[in-house]
Amino acid sequence: RLDVVETFHGLFFPGHLHTQDSLQLALKFPFQDTDIIIVSYPKSGTTWMQEIVTLISSRGDPHVSRSVPNWARAPWLEHHYFAALLEASPTTPRVITTHLPHHLLGPTLQGSKAKVIYVSRNPKDVVVSFYHFHKIAKFLPEAGSFSEFLNRFLKGTLHYGCWFDHIEGWTRQKATMNNLLHISYEEMSMDIQGAIKRVSSYLQIPLMEDEVNNCVKHCSFSSMKDNKMANYTLVTEEIMDHKKGFFMRKGKIGDWKNMFTEELNQYFNSVLESKMVDSTLEFTWD
Ligand code: PPS
Repeated sequence: RLDVVETFHGLFFPGHLHTQDSLQLALKFPFQDTDIIIVSYPKSGTTWMQEIVTLISSRGDPHVSRSVPNWARAPWLEHHYFAALLEASPTTPRVITTHLPHHLLGPTLQGSKAKVIYVSRNPKDVVVSFYHFHKIAKFLPEAGSFSEFLNRFLKGTLHYGCWFDHIEGWTRQKATMNNLLHISYEEMSMDIQGAIKRVSSYLQIPLMEDEVNNCVKHCSFSSMKDNKMANYTLVTEEIMDHKKGFFMRKGKIGDWKNMFTEELNQYFNSVLESKMVDSTLEFTWD
């Protein structure tokens, strides 16, 4: 069965990608100071950042991003095939992706100079994107109704755990870590050129203006939707039901407005407010 669940430290993970061993190994991984680590809660812009980092590393040349699948050029730390993929990855410096929360991975990274890029997104758009993804991903549980799904999201019982803990855990580190860049999906949507410059400067890979423009061109939603190395159409039908929808679904900010009723929105806002009461994060979402 594909929807078999791996439980690790009280969190659920898709069992066809994760094992107890692969999750344990992730927490013992010897990061190198040159590593780039893309960290996100699911559906926050992970794939987009994988493309941006690949393109920045190749100075806007799309050869690698168009010839190597994203999971092979920026492999997932916690997946069971991670070591084999990392070994074969053509990307230098190494690019590693993870959805693990800070309370699990933070201790492993302590003292490391690896460069973390934390990508966040309006949680209302995250929950909508995740809901649609549950319908196509056969390795995730049944989505159920949207209001049931939203409750599971707010309770933190979906796979990969709680959104609030994830963003709080990782961004709280910003005050003490100078090797964490927090960038939002909204920022990338509203000013992709500026976002690419911010990432390239953080990674200390200065780019010429035409190289930035090439990155912009090749990481657009339409380019990535067409790129089978980024759009997950290479994944077999046993794993994703491509007839039910696309991984590259809409790529918009504010799509939550098409799914949330006024009542759900008020409920969501009240939970958000109570959970984030001590947070110093400033959100730019509407
Ligand atoms: S995953 O499964 O965690 O790796 O998913 P993730 O990549 O984090 O998020 C998928 C959503 O990101 C959208 N996406 C983009 N939006 C705008 N521009 C570009 N280039 C882009 N690439 C991916 C993707 O469409 C998913 O969002 P929704 O709202 O479902 O469309």
